[in-house]
Amino acid sequence: MTVSVQGCDGSVLLDGSASGPSEKDAPPNLTLRPSAFKAINDLRAAIDKKCGGVVSCADVAALAARDSVFLSGGPDYKVPLGRRDGLSFATREATLASLPAPTSNVSVLLNALSKLNLNADDLVALSGGHTIGIGHCSSFSNRLYPSRDSTMDQSFAKNLYSTCPTSTSSNTTVLDLRSPNAFDNNYYVDLVNRQGLFTSDQDLYSDARTREIVKRFAGDERLFFERFAASMVKMGQLSVLTGKQGEIRDNCSVRNGRKVDGGDDDDEEGIWSLVDDEVVQSLAFE
Ligand code: HEM
Repeated sequence: MTVSVQGCDGSVLLDGSASGPSEKDAPPNLTLRPSAFKAINDLRAAIDKKCGGVVSCADVAALAARDSVFLSGGPDYKVPLGRRDGLSFATREATLASLPAPTSNVSVLLNALSKLNLNADDLVALSGGHTIGIGHCSSFSNRLYPSRDSTMDQSFAKNLYSTCPTSTSSNTTVLDLRSPNAFDNNYYVDLVNRQGLFTSDQDLYSDARTREIVKRFAGDERLFFERFAASMVKMGQLSVLTGKQGEIRDNCSVRNGRKVDGGDDDDEEGIWSLVDDEVVQSLAFE
């Protein structure tokens, strides 16, 4: 899961410090790939070279997510920009408490999302992010051991047992077996065929509150793309820091050394704005 616990403030990008282990070192985030953190830092360096240090790491992360979706075949959408970077990361306890586990059912997921003003439509649309990428056995072994989850298709289960021969195997498998590297609506086709990987995926089809939305997305890719983009924009505005709040980090992995002046300025109106794609695209990376 890629949502930052404190909102979209780039806190998950921070390395740990003397004050404790970082958000990315907390168990739910251990599977975030080191290459992704490097990509964000590299993108930031390229942008800094062109523009100076005016684009936050939080904005770079939001744009990188958008571009990854588009480049793998998904929708393009405009990302509101102007986020500032947070000064601290969430503790291990806060991270564990805020990110729902893949063993969660729809009730748990809806409850977690409702605290963020996200609803069942958002939940189903955003879960479509699992149309690309991989998961470790530990994230779905609850569905295999001690016995097969009865909502799981038998031949799909057979393959998963060979990938994860024991409940503690450390192997990985793809999240969307039909087209693991393409951003499309096959994730929902998987769910309809009871071939979703995590409990949090398959329960979207089992639960009457979300089943019809899954079916609609399985039959209408364009609708899924529209709803996914809208929910990403919505999620991307959770607890953003703007104006003079936070900072623009020099290095996305570390908060700036200088002391940041807080106080009255925190109430100042932010520079939240919708920047045209053309402007972003004109940053020709070298
Ligand atoms: C609804 C709650 C969610 C849960 C419980 C959840 C859980 C997980 C888990 C457990 C993994 C695999 C970790 C591993 O075993 O390696 C994963 C991977 C992934 N998730 Fe989610 N996720 C959620 C929402 C999202 C959202 C909203 C997105 C994006 C819009 C997303 C995108 C991804 C992607 C792309 C991967 C693959 C990462 C990789 O290949 O390294 N997930 N998620």
